[in-house]
Amino acid sequence: MAKKILVSGIQPSGALHVGNYLGAMKQFVDLQEEYESYIFVANYHAMTTVQDKDVLAQNTLDVVLDYLAVGLDPKKTTLFIQSDVPQVTELTWIFNTLVTVPYMERATSYKDKIAKGIEATIGLFDYPVLMAADILLPGANIVPVGQDQKQHVEYARDIAQKFNSTFGDTFAIPEPYILPNAAVVPGTDGQKMSKSYGNTIPLFASRDEITKAVMSIVTDSSGDLPKNVYEIHKFFRPENELKELYEANKGSYKALKEALIEDLDAFIKPLRERRAEFAQDMNGVRAILAESGAKMREKADTKMKEVREKVGLLSVQ
Ligand code: ADP
Ligand code: TRP
Repeated sequence: MAKKILVSGIQPSGALHVGNYLGAMKQFVDLQEEYESYIFVANYHAMTTVQDKDVLAQNTLDVVLDYLAVGLDPKKTTLFIQSDVPQVTELTWIFNTLVTVPYMERATSYKDKIAKGIEATIGLFDYPVLMAADILLPGANIVPVGQDQKQHVEYARDIAQKFNSTFGDTFAIPEPYILPNAAVVPGTDGQKMSKSYGNTIPLFASRDEITKAVMSIVTDSSGDLPKNVYEIHKFFRPENELKELYEANKGSYKALKEALIEDLDAFIKPLRERRAEFAQDMNGVRAILAESGAKMREKADTKMKEVREKVGLLSVQ
């Protein structure tokens, strides 16, 4: 039986953090055997916030190294850069002609971003439609993401349905894949960990960076249990051991933070080392990207031919 198709991506908009890993990347790795997997670096999306060419290019390669370091295997997962498949932008345009402005105005991520002062460009507004094209073009059945991306996957579902009902059955209807216990990993301030909130523990942090981040975890002094420390710690030690540790160190926030530093470092160290190894062989990394990019463009061309015919875009070539 053919494997189901998995598609997901992450924007190269800054250093990835343990929230990205637990909420999304870990699932990419865990599911790569079971699904036909397509994972990419969403650099067109990142253009909505990163407008420096060197930064965008460097961040893009950084995310590729991050993916490899956490265990994505290019033999199992097609790992590519979004802009190597420009067909997604054509599909975005076609979808744009089907979705309405009031419907797009409901996007909470767009509203949050403009509330934070990001310029309300058409690109930012259209972000979910481009994401729908990413998802639907390779025929995704499931899309592993964190909770904050759920609405975007719903947009993709709605757009697939609208296209199918207007032009005939063309796109699979994707399902979000969100692990309930890692849907929203908290940051050092107890809010959702996010690149844009300055509350992250970087996924490839050095020992010093780990220490700095953990020491900055906001602890409230009202109880014996430092909740914000515990809520991060529970991802890095089995719950029964953790309960004992917190019971034995009641009220001693410093000891508990030190324990968290140890556990984080034990988790991150091998990732850091693996990443450094891949970084030694950038030619090898580029070769992987070139091969998967070519494969994706071919796949995209086949699907776009079908789409163009269905909507009546004449081809005289
Ligand atoms: P950020 O909010 O840091 O900019 P992104 O929006 O680039 O993160 O997210 C990349 C992926 O990681 C998405 O699938 C997103 O849902 C997931 N993710 C981001 N932050 C978290 C978090 N704190 N907990 C769980 N998943 C997260
Ligand atoms: N919007 C996603 C994020 O910020 C990144 C993304 C772009 C994506 N295209 C996608 C995720 C397609 C899943 C599928 O994290």
